[in-house]
Amino acid sequence: MKTITPLVRKQIVQAQRNEITEYHIYKRLARKTTNQKNKKILNSIADDELQHYKIWMKYSGREVGPSRWDILKFYWMALFFGLTFGLKQMELGEQRAQINYNEIGKEIPEAIQIGKEENQHEKELLKMLNSKG
Ligand SMILES: [Fe+2]
Ligand SMILES: [Fe+2]
Repeated sequence: MKTITPLVRKQIVQAQRNEITEYHIYKRLARKTTNQKNKKILNSIADDELQHYKIWMKYSGREVGPSRWDILKFYWMALFFGLTFGLKQMELGEQRAQINYNEIGKEIPEAIQIGKEENQHEKELLKMLNSKG
């Protein structure tokens, strides 16, 4: 395993927590939606997040648990304000993820690909939101 600077290591652990939290949220949203096409997309995004989590874990060398609070928060939001609202929040979350993939990419090459997939998630969620009118 390559040596990783403490700052990047800290960011990796934070990224791992985000990925595994998002994995659980997308899984829940997928379970909640009755639209089969959207269900498939949400499950596929969830799978990506789990893969990202595993890539980061190779470098941190440790497991990280999800934020239970964030999982509940999104579940309640989708329950009370509807799935569209929940999707919008996730889309905004993908947009504002503070992880600098290009910077981390200098030490961890896979980070670049992860960053690209996150951009793709944002696009897929937007498409889903727009198709709902
Ligand atoms: Fe991810
Ligand atoms: Fe994502």
